[in-house]
Amino acid sequence: MDRRKNPYAPGAGIQPPALAGRDQLLADAQIDMERVLARRPVKSLMLLGLRGVGKTVLLNRMKADADNLDFQTAKIEAPEEGTLPQLLIPELRRILFSLDLIARAGKKLRQAMGALRNFGSAFRVSVGEIEIGMTPTPGVADTGNIEQDMPQLIIALCEAAAERNTAIGLFVDEVQYLSPRELAALVLACHETAQRNLPLFFVGAGLPQIAALAGNAKSYAERLFNYPGIDKLPPEAAREALTAPARKEGAAFESDAVEEILRVTERYPYFIQEWGYHVWNSAPKSPVTKHDVESAYPAIISHLDANFFRVRFDRLTVLQQKYLRAMAELGPGPHKTGDIAATLGVDATSVATVRQQLIDKGMIWSQRHGETAFTVPMFDRFMKRQIKVLEKHVPRRRKPALPRPL
Ligand SMILES: Nc1ncnc2c1ncn2[C@@H]1O[C@H](COP(=O)(O)OP(=O)(O)OP(=O)(O)O)[C@@H](O)[C@H]1O
Ligand SMILES: [Mg+2]
Repeated sequence: MDRRKNPYAPGAGIQPPALAGRDQLLADAQIDMERVLARRPVKSLMLLGLRGVGKTVLLNRMKADADNLDFQTAKIEAPEEGTLPQLLIPELRRILFSLDLIARAGKKLRQAMGALRNFGSAFRVSVGEIEIGMTPTPGVADTGNIEQDMPQLIIALCEAAAERNTAIGLFVDEVQYLSPRELAALVLACHETAQRNLPLFFVGAGLPQIAALAGNAKSYAERLFNYPGIDKLPPEAAREALTAPARKEGAAFESDAVEEILRVTERYPYFIQEWGYHVWNSAPKSPVTKHDVESAYPAIISHLDANFFRVRFDRLTVLQQKYLRAMAELGPGPHKTGDIAATLGVDATSVATVRQQLIDKGMIWSQRHGETAFTVPMFDRFMKRQIKVLEKHVPRRRKPALPRPL
């Protein structure tokens, strides 16, 4: 069909042509934001889900909704390497400048400027010029201890927003890559602003292990946040995600073609976009048939292998790859950690480090103690395609020292 009209949007964080199945969540967030503006208490949100379920898209949508309500918003993506202050400071600086545009600098705004400058110098990040009638704010956000400074800075920022009758929206993606102290600092900041009834709407997003990480950082995190699970789409929403964009272009899928795509994508949003995109390009005409879907299958799988899966695989060491291959041997999972080690031919303690490295890289996670699961849907089948035969792991032993010559 006409490639110029292809409506699908496979990618990372790209708004889909039809954002299906998330209406309730977005409506709930909208109500929360209006409550924040009215200075009523709300819980912060942590959107949890596997790769490609649509967390970033939701985060971006919520940010846009907050912008429409005239929130002052900042969005950052936690990097695998790098620090939170580096990313946060330019965004907060931008917010302070736009608060200044709303009206002449007030007392709280000047204090927040001072707090930001202190925070910048405590964490050795250049803040640039901030001169809006700034007065120094000694003793605020300047200790170099992020768990102390971050809440103070966010409080100062929220007070400045409150002074302007507006609110702050803070959106943090890939939260699992924050260091434990950075995460604790953010949780604390949310906690303290909530206690002071300050206007902050915080939304985090990332892999499902965040719930446990936040709980480890601060035990009250459980009560401070709502953790909506973002998952594969329910069947009706998955059909809508696939068929609505085609309908808008005057094209259609036969119903068994739709069901076949739902089956092979397992209703994961990212895969629905990929299948929609490729099948659209390869099908000769509308309506798309089940046969069109089946014929496109091998090309789509090679495309996914070469792109989506491969980039993740290439970042791994040989031993990490072997660990995942052993998991794949057992199926999609989750699996008992002991069974994975046994499949590798070793005991669990000898691969505990490699397992932890894979968790830190966001490749696997553990829902329950002693269990391990992939964070990337369908990764088990990719691993089997990539490494045909599972090799047992032989831990390297030190060579025994040669006997000394007599
Ligand atoms: N509700 C939805 N309906 C249809 N398509 C969607 C939906 N949500 C996301 N998508 C599509 O799925 C793809 C992945 O979305 P997104 O990047 O937001 O996922 P993610 O959960 O952030 O993944 P990752 O963990 O890898 O960052 C995008 O192409 C997006 O357009
Ligand atoms: Mg994302």
